[in-house]
Amino acid sequence: MTNNNIYFVANWKMFGLKSSINKIDKVINLTKKNTFKKINIIYCPPTTILSIFANKLRNSKIKIGAQNIFYTENFGPHTGSVNAKMIKDSGASYVILGHSENRNEGETDLVINKKIKVALKEKIKVIFCFGETLRDRNNKKTSKVLKKQILNALKGINDIKNIIFAYEPVWSIGTGKVLKSENLFKDIEKIKGIIRTNFNIKEINILYGGSVNTKNIIDLKKVDNLSGFLIGGASQNQNKFIDIIKKTFN
Ligand code: 13P
Repeated sequence: MTNNNIYFVANWKMFGLKSSINKIDKVINLTKKNTFKKINIIYCPPTTILSIFANKLRNSKIKIGAQNIFYTENFGPHTGSVNAKMIKDSGASYVILGHSENRNEGETDLVINKKIKVALKEKIKVIFCFGETLRDRNNKKTSKVLKKQILNALKGINDIKNIIFAYEPVWSIGTGKVLKSENLFKDIEKIKGIIRTNFNIKEINILYGGSVNTKNIIDLKKVDNLSGFLIGGASQNQNKFIDIIKKTFN
């Protein structure tokens, strides 16, 4: 882990009802104790309960993010969609964009680029996800694929400092498979190299996502060029989420 702030982003994906708000009480208590000074927790619940989370977390240090937005700025006839203004109005100050689960549904680099632009315009910080498939990795195309995803998604964007990068290898999401810390370190260095070469940015925050759990965190926390974790499944259980946080710092 870096010496800077450490992010723990809880991506609840399509899980959670109004009643789920009770499942974060212990995490709120943890932040009240102020034990971990460098901690940054961001909850990304489904859109339907964003404002419930916002009300509950109003006086806490925990921030809220949405899991996606529509790619245009204005209101309009787009059935079933929400724009950046709407999620901001619900209390979100972050949004996850470029997640492979949405890329799988046909979201292109160009669409992701538009979404990042509208989010930043609304002063919403972006958690930008990218990652290679198993086939890319087996064909030794990881660097090429990541570079393409990053450059295409960030084309024409100057406000890079409001983007948190999230490296999520597709083959690692929900599978229990993770890289060994020494290999992940090397991949993160390569990614930082791509970003530094192409953008004017001093401090790059990169999170890792993909099957982070209470066991593999012991090895993952050794990756000291990372700024934290984007956690899916394990973040829905507050005991596991807290365990991951505590093990990261201890
Ligand atoms: P899991 O932690 O469930 O593998 O999900 C990772 C992820 O996709 C977070 O965005």
